[in-house]
Amino acid sequence: MTQTLTLRRPDDWHLHLRDGDMLRAVLPETTRHFARAIIMPNLVPPVVTAADARAYRDRIMAAVPNSDSFKPLMTLYLTEDTDPEDMAAAHAEGLITAVKLYPAGATTNSASGVSNFDNVAKVLEKMAEIGLPLCTHGEVTDPDVDIFDREAVFIDRVLDPIRRKHPELRVVMEHITTANAVEYVQANDKNLGATITTHHLVINRNHILAGGIKPHYYCLPVAKREKHRLALRAAATSGDARFFLGTDSAPHTDENKLLPCGCAGCFTAPNTMSILAQVFEDENALDKLEAFTSLNGPAFYRLPVNEETLTLTRNEATFPPHIQTPDGPVTVFDPQMTLHWTA
Ligand code: DOR
Ligand code: ZN
Repeated sequence: MTQTLTLRRPDDWHLHLRDGDMLRAVLPETTRHFARAIIMPNLVPPVVTAADARAYRDRIMAAVPNSDSFKPLMTLYLTEDTDPEDMAAAHAEGLITAVKLYPAGATTNSASGVSNFDNVAKVLEKMAEIGLPLCTHGEVTDPDVDIFDREAVFIDRVLDPIRRKHPELRVVMEHITTANAVEYVQANDKNLGATITTHHLVINRNHILAGGIKPHYYCLPVAKREKHRLALRAAATSGDARFFLGTDSAPHTDENKLLPCGCAGCFTAPNTMSILAQVFEDENALDKLEAFTSLNGPAFYRLPVNEETLTLTRNEATFPPHIQTPDGPVTVFDPQMTLHWTA
């Protein structure tokens, strides 16, 4: 049996790093394994201008451990007031790699997101013209739509119309959770990709709700039925270049997770690579792991693959239940399975 597995160094195409003490506490958990990450802009206040992105990038770089090389790939938070020229200049100077669309109210710190998609048509036009990808949080927020249907409805009501209106726009469907999303990606071979998180390959909605509520498994989009998890596993392990890793690792203190109205997010940065190796091994697809973590993302973003490598060894991996931060402990995602690969 294979005892080591060497991959091109992976990238995380969807990551929440937060700011201040939390940023400094969680960043090493990512830079230990990952060379680059797409940095989510949903700070309070959000990263909406080139100047915001530059300042946030500098704070991230100041927090990178000395021994690690890491490149944050910055994003702007799309609002109805986003200035297409400011955005295009940020792209031209290499400051931003993507723009993030949050429907207003869809998730953590999304209040400044988009309510009327007609109001961002000019920005999307510009993005299509300059080849700047749009990362979508693909959930409608209409109260009449069941939370478990919000991704599928987003595809029909929002995403597909946007893509028809702007066929040259390059779109990443972020953290997909449904077979519907997998099928939508598979049916479109141009200008479309999707990220899949580590946790959505492991849990379904029973894990959150059966036998007592598990706040640390609550994230958005919420995990769906088992058939959807299986569709995600099949997509991730297929080698299909349209699917790549975006952990959506989203740290919140235990205090904030365990409130009567607790925050959404799973913190998977510390154990993502061990979990993924186990998932791919269980699917007899270890030979496809590198495509998912290290090749397909750069291909979509038209960036070079990393020259450095990461070696995993076949040793049982254990992780602390939480990491300590000055704001309080942050619980590490528990996959509830033995992990046979150490990264
Ligand atoms: O679970 C989530 N947590 N989903 C998101 O979309 C946002 C994220 C966060 O920022 O905590
Ligand atoms: Zn996210």
